[in-house]
Amino acid sequence: MSDDNKEIDEVTGTDTTGHEWDGIKELNTPMPRWWIYTFIVCCIWGFAYQFLYPSWPLIDSYYEGYFAETQRDRVHAELASYNQIRNISADKIKSMDLAAIKNDHDLNIFALEGGKAAFGDNCAPCHGTGAQGFVGYPNLNDDDWIWGGSLDDIHTTINYGIRGVHEDTRINEMPAYLRDELLNKAEINDVVTYVESLADNSIHPAAGSSEIFADNCALCHGEDGKGLQELGAPDLTDAIKLYVTDRDSMIDIVSYSRGGVMPSWNGRLDEATIKSLAIYVHTLGGGE
Ligand code: HEC
Ligand code: HEC
Repeated sequence: MSDDNKEIDEVTGTDTTGHEWDGIKELNTPMPRWWIYTFIVCCIWGFAYQFLYPSWPLIDSYYEGYFAETQRDRVHAELASYNQIRNISADKIKSMDLAAIKNDHDLNIFALEGGKAAFGDNCAPCHGTGAQGFVGYPNLNDDDWIWGGSLDDIHTTINYGIRGVHEDTRINEMPAYLRDELLNKAEINDVVTYVESLADNSIHPAAGSSEIFADNCALCHGEDGKGLQELGAPDLTDAIKLYVTDRDSMIDIVSYSRGGVMPSWNGRLDEATIKSLAIYVHTLGGGE
């Protein structure tokens, strides 16, 4: 076999390479030039890529590449710029008063989003994911407030809690009229009928029961039973109830009292989050 054997193949008219095995000759049909060049360019590109970018595994790490570039770094950079924007907004929320935040379109949106997320994390277990509440845990969507529905009232409630451990906690204990022997069973029965009659004028309370109410209950719930927000005493005349589900439950509450506890969030959540929560809750209830 040598190049001397080169000839032109009779059938195809193509050069042979001069290689021959058992009378079989190899035609000289090289790769097209464009293919070879493309191949070479791909090889160069491949090596360059391996050199510039993370590629080879090493024993306990990997070759990071000339640019040492990772997608993780890119995510970190994006997060850092996002956090920077976030911190600027959070700082503004911290230093501005609630009404001003609410009036600032962008900050208000920022506060509502932050408040919604913080509500899901911290408040939903007691108030429900939709803030719809449960017996003993007020619905925050209605515009009926036990402790007041202004931005500042809501902020104070969230900040210091209700019957909690914070020194500024909101507090007011309704007496347990039966247990504390302030009223007997018959009197409690009468005053409960009187309370029911405030909402339903087809109910006629026994004579003298309005005096029991005036002497014992009006101090907190008001002469008209419509409640006093400064004292956290609920309106007894509307359909929105904190505990009462039926007459028996009302008798039970007057007899033994309740005393719902809401934790304080001051110190547990940062000021910007607490303010955001106040704005979020205020918006839910179409607050006062
Ligand atoms: C451990 C249960 C619990 C958690 C958690 C909780 N709350 Fe409350 N919250 C209550 C109770 C109970 C009351 C009603 C207390 C009362 O009897 O006056 C209340 C009352 C309130 C009120 C007053 C409603 C009114 O009508 O005046 C607001 C506002 C409020 N919660 C917001 C929040 C927010 C915001 C969070 C989350 C940061 C939260 N709560 C977390 C139990 C809870
Ligand atoms: C010292 C203030 C105070 C006095 C006096 C008082 N209450 Fe209350 N009452 C409250 C507070 C505060 C609550 C809310 C209790 C809670 O959240 O645990 C409440 C709750 C109630 C509830 C439950 C309301 C609901 O929405 O479920 C009823 C009913 C009630 N009071 C009736 C009475 C009656 C009747 C009297 C008089 C015999 C009376 N209260 C006297 C403070 C008072």
